[in-house]
Amino acid sequence: MSDRTVEEVFEVIAAAAPEIRAALVERVGFESEENPSGEQQIAADVHADRLLEERLLTIDGVGHYASEERDHVISDGEGYSVAVDPVDGSSNVESNNAAGTIVGVYDAELPASGEHLLGAAYVLYGPRTTMVTAHEGTVTESVVENGDRTTVRDDVRIPEDDGVYGFGGRVPDWPADFEAFAREIEQELKLRYSGAMIGDVNQVLTYGGIFAYPALRSAPESKLRLLYEGNPIGYIVESANGRSSDGDRSILSVPADDIHQRVPVHVGTTEYVDRLEAALD
Ligand code: F6P
Repeated sequence: MSDRTVEEVFEVIAAAAPEIRAALVERVGFESEENPSGEQQIAADVHADRLLEERLLTIDGVGHYASEERDHVISDGEGYSVAVDPVDGSSNVESNNAAGTIVGVYDAELPASGEHLLGAAYVLYGPRTTMVTAHEGTVTESVVENGDRTTVRDDVRIPEDDGVYGFGGRVPDWPADFEAFAREIEQELKLRYSGAMIGDVNQVLTYGGIFAYPALRSAPESKLRLLYEGNPIGYIVESANGRSSDGDRSILSVPADDIHQRVPVHVGTTEYVDRLEAALD
């Protein structure tokens, strides 16, 4: 095992991106089963999950695979653990909006906190297929064509400009303190909410601002999953000089006890995430 393993994981994800993108076009029908988080799977979720499991576990330094689509961690010997959301934003597929793929590479067996992350990446299936990787303190954005990456932004830093915001959950379901914060932010930033976390986070990395899927009155643990959504995105945003928070502390410090654990997610520039934490009781 070495840090080369992290780069090998990124290579496998990039190589699979054209196939996953094709599946988003060809496999839009629903499966009969729900995934372990209780969400309806589309055929592209299942296809992408099988493909990534098979290819990621063939990397010598990878021993364990967890995904949104699986009840259990799949182990195949010693090595790092990868946690994957094969198709993030799959409810966007029917309406032909953006979707993504997310991966985190952990140096511990899962569940593990984000402090065990060695690297993280996401692919965004927009008009272009792009990939953002974070490893050893450097965040890089590439365009992916035929499975190969060409760097378009080296050393990505979240802009400190005014930027955009996108907050998930229905407004009547927001706790009063979060709603008061949202009312302030809507006076300052431009609303952009896409329904796929990867699309929304990529806008924040491009323009600055804040994305949140906060704790809800009906679901204090919120919606997004810690291992393959909150942690990798928190790691990428923090590596890009921004901040992540569960409302109280860095998402990366949240103890993990379940592979499908959920966590309130707030990521963005230091200024906005500091203000968010101060606004929450
Ligand atoms: O995986 C969950 C997800 O699709 C995220 O990508 C996205 O941020 C969120 O759910 C959207 O949820 P909602 O449909 O409640 O806005």
